[in-house]
Amino acid sequence: MRLSIIIIALAGLTLVHYADSQDLPPYRKPKHYPNRHRANAVKSAFQVSWDGYYQYAFPHDSLRPVNNTYEDDRNGWGASAVDAFSTALIMGNGKVVSQILEYIPTINFNQTDTQVSLFETTIRYLGGLLSAYDLITGPLHGNSSSVKVSAILKQAKRLADNLKVAFYTPSGIPDNQLNFNPPRRVGSSTNGIATIGTLVLEWTRLSDLTGDPEYALLAQRAEEYLLQPRPALGEPFPGLLGTNVDIDTGLFVDGSGGWGAGDDSFYEYLIKMYLYDPTRFKRYSERWVKAADSSIRYLVSHPTSRPDLTFLAMWENRTLNFVSQHLACFSAGNFILGGLTLDEPSYVRFGLDLVDGCYATYSSTLTGIGPEIFRWQDDSLPLNASYNKPPPANQTGFYETAGFWITNAGYVLRPEVIESYYYAYRATGNPLYQEWAWEAFTAINATCRIGSGYSSIKNVNKVNGGGFADFQESFWFAEVLKYSYLIFAEDAAWQVQADHSNEFVFNTEAHPIRIYGGRKGGRGRKRGGGGWERGGWGESFKGREQRAENWTRRRGWGRG
Ligand SMILES: *[C@@H]1O[C@H](CO)[C@@H](O)[C@H](O)[C@H]1NC(C)=O
Ligand SMILES: *[C@@H]1O[C@H](CO)[C@@H](O)[C@H](O)[C@H]1NC(C)=O
Ligand SMILES: *[C@@H]1O[C@H](CO)[C@@H](O)[C@H](O)[C@H]1NC(C)=O
Ligand SMILES: *[C@@H]1O[C@H](CO)[C@@H](O)[C@H](O)[C@H]1NC(C)=O
Ligand SMILES: *[C@@H]1O[C@H](CO)[C@@H](O)[C@H](O)[C@H]1NC(C)=O
Ligand SMILES: *[C@@H]1O[C@H](CO)[C@@H](O)[C@H](O)[C@H]1NC(C)=O
Ligand SMILES: *[C@@H]1O[C@H](CO)[C@@H](O)[C@H](O)[C@H]1NC(C)=O
Ligand SMILES: *[C@@H]1O[C@H](CO)[C@@H](O)[C@H](O)[C@H]1NC(C)=O
Repeated sequence: MRLSIIIIALAGLTLVHYADSQDLPPYRKPKHYPNRHRANAVKSAFQVSWDGYYQYAFPHDSLRPVNNTYEDDRNGWGASAVDAFSTALIMGNGKVVSQILEYIPTINFNQTDTQVSLFETTIRYLGGLLSAYDLITGPLHGNSSSVKVSAILKQAKRLADNLKVAFYTPSGIPDNQLNFNPPRRVGSSTNGIATIGTLVLEWTRLSDLTGDPEYALLAQRAEEYLLQPRPALGEPFPGLLGTNVDIDTGLFVDGSGGWGAGDDSFYEYLIKMYLYDPTRFKRYSERWVKAADSSIRYLVSHPTSRPDLTFLAMWENRTLNFVSQHLACFSAGNFILGGLTLDEPSYVRFGLDLVDGCYATYSSTLTGIGPEIFRWQDDSLPLNASYNKPPPANQTGFYETAGFWITNAGYVLRPEVIESYYYAYRATGNPLYQEWAWEAFTAINATCRIGSGYSSIKNVNKVNGGGFADFQESFWFAEVLKYSYLIFAEDAAWQVQADHSNEFVFNTEAHPIRIYGGRKGGRGRKRGGGGWERGGWGESFKGREQRAENWTRRRGWGRG
């Protein structure tokens, strides 16, 4: 009781402090408020999830906590163990760390019976291994035997050596799908910008750690097609792209996109590469700036029933579609990180507005958890436009107060909303974001906890979540539990910093990768603030939402 009164008082004070002095660059490190009690509650949830996984699923990929069995949804290489690795390290969970350390050298990355996704394998397995290696050879130095530590990097290299055939295409754009034994491309004709553009951090890091330049060259060559998109169809707004690229020619085949599934982490990595190494990746940050400026100029949308909320629309060519996803809420944190990295307050402020919108998707439902996909009616376009429809009759009441209506009510243990609270908190020090993270974490803990772990649920707007899908995603370990922990944990080398003193950058699966050469984050470009007015759009929209639904159903599209 006393504690929460103090926290509320601090929230008020910090808001004032933020408005007074943290609002303008150069950004300084704000005061933070670690909370061991809450950090330990998150550690307990990690332990429950791990114990269930270790007993009923290890060394398979994922736990089915209701039926106490497993699923090999990520090639059977122990996805949850590798995804839990960096979280166990950061939590200082020595027992789990040694269980995973023992396991890593035994994985046979040469062998799998199921199709391999280059993207999913990169962000979960390669990212998990490289992060553990960076943590154990960096700030956690001295806790593990050097033989076991060098096996981590050796396995990362073995895995990448098996995957690299994906890039041996006419254009150098990888085929995202491989069959193994031996590794070979399935022969896809196109690949999407998220699955092309979310490799470059992990593959560059592998080259920087091993001294073999090939991995970085492969990923960066593919990325070139996204940095210089062709033809014009592929870049409907400056910096904002279509989705699918022809693997033979490197040409975009559509102009549909968004900050959600299928596109998301391409934008995310543009700024993160600059944070990783501002010398090599300045061009990447310039593309991120274009995308950020266009988003603020063209995509900002406010719901008719809640004009106080800010969401980002998706697009087909230059026609907007007023739909968003849980996945897309990462963009709030990405704008904040971009603003801190480039000393640009308008990006930080905009990111904080997006955080408020994401919070509304959680606070409005019966479980206190946000839905997978939602829509709204834009308040500045004609309400009779065919692409700006009102909600269905049975959600009119919900829309009036919530500011969105639900088109896919599931929750699959995704991290993006808590992830963005984390960035908001690290940037501002405002304990309000800790409160929101605690609300989200306790809601998830209350609704998704079942059997031997935590499960995806079917309906965030039904008491008790409308039933369990009986699946504990590996990113529950890597992301939800990590961000929930870090927002209450003490300062540390891996924490995101507001003041250009970052030592790590998180990959899209929340695995912290050590910044190149111990270099500090990129410093100080000055820009004039762009106006937030909006531009024109034309024709009516078709099919985008259906496609978003399809992407979301296929695990393996978009962010981890
Ligand atoms: C769990 O197992 C029971 C009994 O074997 C089965 O009827 C049920 O369909 C299973 N549940 C799921 C979600 O697979
Ligand atoms: C080293 O391991 C011990 C126990 O396994 C743990 O308590 C301690 O926090 C670890 N130290 C670091 C720096 O992780
Ligand atoms: C995997 O394949 C590589 C290259 O052929 C070989 O050197 C290695 O021993 C194999 N590893 C296992 C576990 O089979
Ligand atoms: C987007 O542009 C392409 C190519 O010009 C066209 O085929 C497609 O119909 C357009 N989509 C919309 C919604 O206008
Ligand atoms: C919408 O309403 C306006 C004004 O009433 C009218 O001019 C316009 O043609 C209508 N548009 C559509 C698509 O019905
Ligand atoms: C609203 O009605 C549609 C169509 O009958 C139905 O599919 C949907 O589940 C309903 N949604 C809610 C929230 O009741
Ligand atoms: C999480 O759920 C468990 C089981 O219902 C409960 O014992 C625990 O207190 C909850 N933790 C928090 C922080 O609410
Ligand atoms: C979505 O998936 C359904 C069923 O697989 C398919 O029929 C439909 O064409 C897909 N829609 C889009 C836009 O990809």
